[in-house]
Amino acid sequence: LPALRVAVLGAGTVGGEVLRLIAQQGEDLAHRIGGRLEVRGVAVRDLDRDRGPHVPRALLTEDAAALVREADLVVEVMGGIEPARTLLLDAMAHGASVVTANKALLAQDGATLYEAADAHGVDLYFEAAVAGAIPLVRPVRESLAGDRIQRVLGIVNGTTNYILDAMTRTGVSFDEALTTAQQLGYAEADPTADVEGHDAAAKASILASLAFHSRVRLGDVHCEGITQVSAQDIAAAARMGRTIKLLSIVERIEEENGERISARVYPALVPDHHPLAAVSEAYNAVFIEAEAAGSLMFYGQGAGGSPTASAVLGDVVSAARSRVHGGIGPRESRYAELESIPLEEL
Ligand code: NAP
Ligand code: HSE
Repeated sequence: LPALRVAVLGAGTVGGEVLRLIAQQGEDLAHRIGGRLEVRGVAVRDLDRDRGPHVPRALLTEDAAALVREADLVVEVMGGIEPARTLLLDAMAHGASVVTANKALLAQDGATLYEAADAHGVDLYFEAAVAGAIPLVRPVRESLAGDRIQRVLGIVNGTTNYILDAMTRTGVSFDEALTTAQQLGYAEADPTADVEGHDAAAKASILASLAFHSRVRLGDVHCEGITQVSAQDIAAAARMGRTIKLLSIVERIEEENGERISARVYPALVPDHHPLAAVSEAYNAVFIEAEAAGSLMFYGQGAGGSPTASAVLGDVVSAARSRVHGGIGPRESRYAELESIPLEEL
């Protein structure tokens, strides 16, 4: 079987699990792909830390720039805007396909990445960037590409759901619940992104762009987090038969003189009988409403190393297959500004 040179950027919560899965399932993956994944290097900041048996020290490097230039496939699980953006653009310019879990980068500058993938004829996959293990990007980007999506609504941040759920069920404080969510590997490196709603807003902007074939940027998303939600609010909601959940909603709004897109993230009072009220811990749940398909519901683990690594590996298999067998995956760079539907004024 042909070998594919893989560069992994990051060996933290997600990267460590990606490497474990590649090591444990190498043979099976090779058969599914029709080619062998050969991890050529793993870029990290700290070369001295022991990262367990699946991340051999010999593979560790601080020179991510050199690593991506010698790769067929770059798996970016380091996070942040820079150096991730420069590395991915460089990787694509050198002919590598890219798999990334980096929603912050996609929300801020996805268009540049999409255009680079198109310009260099390589694949760019990002299933893990939205809702952890739940296949959501692929259904919106591919399965429903022939339909007309009206609305995507749900819980897309595991950390905030974990915090709200813990405060509701066990009465722990916000700070205690956040600390546990960090220990469990759900939170971003800077958890402000989670609790202030920025992570959910980044995911909303990615979903809206894909669902409505328009560029919806992070700044276009109305965003309120959960830092102002108190134990008293949660108790008051419970007395009304409601549960507080951080919802992300992107939708087309029909108006007399056309339609607009609305994209928003905010803590909402969800009736206790609604399926979203029962979403516990770091699980996510998302409804997609499309004209022909009707209403679809997606549910699963929205954060954490292992669930997220599952989504990354699915993308790795797709990108690797298309390199071995030819052909390219779905494209996003043809989203023209002119075709955009106007955004709701916030
Ligand atoms: P993490 O545990 O903080 O790991 C980040 C890794 O990247 C670490 O190994 C770190 O090296 C390395 N790194 C960071 N900056 C670097 C740089 N400038 N040069 C070289 N290496 C660098 O983060 P994570 O939770 O795995 O998340 C990674 C990405 O996945 C982020 O984009 C995040 O948004 C996304 N994601 C995470 C989850 C989740 O549940 N955790 C779910 C979905 C998506 P050191 O180890 O040496 O510090
Ligand atoms: N910090 C994110 C969350 C990770 O809690 O949902 C998954 O994207």
